[in-house]
Amino acid sequence: MSLVIRNADIVTATRRFTADILCENGIITAIGPDLSAPPETEEIDATGRYVFPGFIDPHVHIHLPFMGTHAKDDWTTGSKAALMGGTTTLIEMCCPSRSEDPLEAIRLWKSKAAGKASCDYTFHAGITRFDDSTAAAMQAIVETESITSFKVFLAYKGAFGIDDTELYHTLATASGLGAIVTAHCENAELIAETQKDLVAAGKLGPEWHEPSRPVRVETEGCHHLMTFAEMTGAEVYVVHTSCREAVEVILAAKGRGVKASIETVAPYLTLDHSHAALPDFEGAKYVMSPPIRSVEHQDFLWDALRQGWIDTVATDHAPFDFATQKHMGHPDPEKAVDAEFHPTGKAANFTLIPNGIPSVEERVKLLYSQGVATGRIDLHTFVRTASTRAAEVFGLHPRKGDIVIGGDADLVIWDPAWTGTISAATHSMATDYSAWEGWEITGRAETVTVRGRVMVREGRWCGEAGWGCFLERSATT
Ligand code: URP
Ligand code: ZN
Ligand code: ZN
Repeated sequence: MSLVIRNADIVTATRRFTADILCENGIITAIGPDLSAPPETEEIDATGRYVFPGFIDPHVHIHLPFMGTHAKDDWTTGSKAALMGGTTTLIEMCCPSRSEDPLEAIRLWKSKAAGKASCDYTFHAGITRFDDSTAAAMQAIVETESITSFKVFLAYKGAFGIDDTELYHTLATASGLGAIVTAHCENAELIAETQKDLVAAGKLGPEWHEPSRPVRVETEGCHHLMTFAEMTGAEVYVVHTSCREAVEVILAAKGRGVKASIETVAPYLTLDHSHAALPDFEGAKYVMSPPIRSVEHQDFLWDALRQGWIDTVATDHAPFDFATQKHMGHPDPEKAVDAEFHPTGKAANFTLIPNGIPSVEERVKLLYSQGVATGRIDLHTFVRTASTRAAEVFGLHPRKGDIVIGGDADLVIWDPAWTGTISAATHSMATDYSAWEGWEITGRAETVTVRGRVMVREGRWCGEAGWGCFLERSATT
């Protein structure tokens, strides 16, 4: 199977030039002017379009048992939605419960993707407890499962969260294995106590989610992780950073030599905390953790992208239906939906709203539309933060995240002039709502390839479930 893309306005994290791109057997084999191609090669003319490296979302949840329910997408819907938006590689958070073995969990999470994924993928292996067997499990995850990144939660006390002793040993073990640890940084005790106070005061609606885990709670979590990373020498990656103070704490630690990278996510760049106060419980659609902050933080995050302080823009795609799942936290017993631990008839509150926003399909178009098209970021920052840095940080570069000879032919032909509207009625995600319903968008992924196979053509799905490959990685030691 071969494909040549002609007259491509190629944009990578560092370069922009016009050339043809020849793809053979899944790999980019030539880049240059007027390339000759073997007979039977498919030709696509990209005149007037950008050609970007396939985008990488380094933080998604597909299989996610969480807060008494399960995230809505499976790998068939989630990876199709990713590709429709131009994302060709997903890194999923494997989130076992504390009672599950992390190695068994990775095998389970892999089995959920195999045969269903249409884009390429790997995982961050969740470590949700550390006991006598965990160091050996972590070693097997790196050496036999070819996964070189872990995930810890400082929040979600009693669910995924780990304590400080466990955090210390997870970081020290990962460091010895040459693996990186991704971390959700919020102080679990501060959240638990603040939530109790708010609920006792009758503050039950989704608008109280943000005050229950304010900027200080996230900043303390980041400071905490930085201290532990400094003491153990571990390399860390802070997921879904939402606010100025958290970024500043991490930058200060980097200044002291801590090996840390910073992720933000599309909702923080495009939405603000007023969305969680929308009437008729609509605010529940915008409940995620850390919470969406005020617009000052949003402005700071765009600036931080421009400055290169933030490495990646992910989604933290965690899709729950509004009608049947977000309503588990409705304070009106008549409207609340039942869940395992939430018997109908009891007053619910915001702490029972499943946390997360469906976004895997919208990340790239939001970043382009709200970032590049408005002049907030340039094309290279767009490619770097939505693709290249994730590949570099997680050991996938230059196979992914770039346009180079020998790299995978994951390419996005982007129409910058396209305009359209986001809607749940037309999206490919499995959820019944979009957090950006009705938003006008400029630019879209017109044609998308994964290892040279066209998966989206002129905005229409032509992909194949099961085409996606698990990406083996090896440690840096
Ligand atoms: O609200 C969020 N972020 N939901 C998904 C789980 C997590 O914390 O990443
Ligand atoms: Zn998280
Ligand atoms: Zn997450």
